[in-house]
Amino acid sequence: MMTRVIWLTGLSGAGKSTLARSIRDALQLDGHRGHVLDGDDLRSGLCADLGFSMADRAENVRRVGEVARILADVGVVAIVALISPVLRDRALVRERLEDVGFLEVYVSAPLEVCETRDVKGLYARARQGQLPNFTGVSSRYEPPVVPDVEVRTDKMTLRECTERVLERAGYSRAARRCTGATSAGL
Ligand SMILES: Nc1ncnc2c1ncn2[C@@H]1O[C@H](COP(=O)(O)OP(=O)(O)O)[C@@H](O)[C@H]1O
Ligand SMILES: [Mg+2]
Repeated sequence: MMTRVIWLTGLSGAGKSTLARSIRDALQLDGHRGHVLDGDDLRSGLCADLGFSMADRAENVRRVGEVARILADVGVVAIVALISPVLRDRALVRERLEDVGFLEVYVSAPLEVCETRDVKGLYARARQGQLPNFTGVSSRYEPPVVPDVEVRTDKMTLRECTERVLERAGYSRAARRCTGATSAGL
């Protein structure tokens, strides 16, 4: 079965957004429709009323899951890039989306690596105490116990990560055709 929802979970800076866009581009090259639901973007609109408490994070995951379902129902592969730190929240969304094909991908890199990348300067701010509830620093991250796929972004290139996920999601041809066009230098 081809997965309709590819859910990327992991620390800030692990590579979720980068990998999500790469997966989308590879799917589109192979004639599929894919759309990225990025937690950072959604927080400015759909989820603008939510903060980073555990209850708000749970609601965030639930809402993004429902949008993913709508996309899946109209034949678009939803690629979700969302820290989604809580095991139980992800278990609930999986249950809700099982029937459209749900793949949980653990996008992983050691905290030190994510912190060194510090793509958005958030770790520095969190270490200075300016960001309460920042995942990995002042808020917990619960890694998947048995993820459907784990990609180590500190050890594998973006292209390798993209191919691995596409393969597991049932898009072998897209994986084979993956050019790595968006992965220059990685
Ligand atoms: N294999 C890889 N997959 C994804 N990103 C990678 C990889 N290797 C290095 N990176 C880099 O790591 C950073 C990840 O940032 P980003 O995608 O914004 O993370 P997140 O969305 O998880 O916060 C980017 O600068 C990206 O270029
Ligand atoms: Mg991101």
